[in-house]
Amino acid sequence: MRIGFVGLGAMGSRMAGRLLSAQHELVVYNRTRARAEPLARQGATIAESPRELAAQSDVIFSSLANDAALEAVMLGADGILSSAKSGATIVEMSTVNPETSRRLHESAARKGVFVLDAPVSGSTVQAEQGQLVIFVGGEEDVYERCRPLLAVLGAKTFYLGASGSGATMKLCVNTMLGVGVQALAESIALGEKAGLQRERFLQVLSETAVVSPSQKAKIENARKKEYPPAFALSLMFKDFGLIMDTAKALSVPMPSTAAAVQVAAAENARQTAAHSDEDFSVVVRAMERAAGIA
Ligand SMILES: NC(=O)c1ccc[n+]([C@@H]2O[C@H](COP(=O)([O-])OP(=O)(O)OC[C@H]3O[C@@H](n4cnc5c(N)ncnc54)[C@H](OP(=O)(O)O)[C@@H]3O)[C@@H](O)[C@H]2O)c1
Repeated sequence: MRIGFVGLGAMGSRMAGRLLSAQHELVVYNRTRARAEPLARQGATIAESPRELAAQSDVIFSSLANDAALEAVMLGADGILSSAKSGATIVEMSTVNPETSRRLHESAARKGVFVLDAPVSGSTVQAEQGQLVIFVGGEEDVYERCRPLLAVLGAKTFYLGASGSGATMKLCVNTMLGVGVQALAESIALGEKAGLQRERFLQVLSETAVVSPSQKAKIENARKKEYPPAFALSLMFKDFGLIMDTAKALSVPMPSTAAAVQVAAAENARQTAAHSDEDFSVVVRAMERAAGIA
């Protein structure tokens, strides 16, 4: 079985690396070719286009920035579906709109190609260590066939149901992630402005049961006042957009999320202007500044 991997960014390069380490024959494609070269040095073959990759692959993984990238790579003139073999499977791991996942699933089905939406929870460290949590939508028998490959990438894989279910689950999880860190940011600003000793305050906060593991990891950033991008604010802002689009389409009110989106929007604008790329937990600094601290 030949495996293809499209999209060798922060996440994709690490997942592709794991498949190579597990002795799978791998063909890779990335829009910016230089990002594929480290994998070629480890034994992967570089394809010149998604079309060339799909013609050689039985199972095709993808990890792409957003919906537009997914549409270009999958449905474009030189895209995966232009040459994918009948009976091939696409395991699509990007965080995208569930509607886009379903559209890809339908277009592929017309060509006899199976699609699983399989977005991931966890970041680059988990991707490197095969410790991601993977949410899968699509046909259950296709999922069962792909389980051994998914086990190379994830510590836990959950089957959620029909196409789009994995993508929906991911958006629900990232609602908790984004709003959770916004709550953390507000709590830190309040504690500091009220005069709690910062170091002690953050230490005690991280010992409490109300702090989730993802918030706990971000307290460390707050402590150091450094926000290196494990999950970039630009990606969280993109995910907030997907969450709010989905909520709007379903008439689901999400007032706390809407407030968190406004803070992320301001930070995203600031980062874009400054050409910086910081972690989404940088909203801690944003709320400190809004409160007149630091
Ligand atoms: N980073 C995380 O912690 C994390 C965690 C969970 C889920 N995710 C999700 O995983 C996905 C990948 O994230 P990442 O952090 O790996 O992002 P990334 O480092 O920015 O990589 C994005 C990939 O998409 C490709 N791409 C972007 N626009 C394209 C286009 N128009 N045509 C073709 N290729 C295009 C990029 O190619 P180039 O190299 O040519 O730009 C690159 O391979 C995203 O959907 C993200 O939301 C990320």
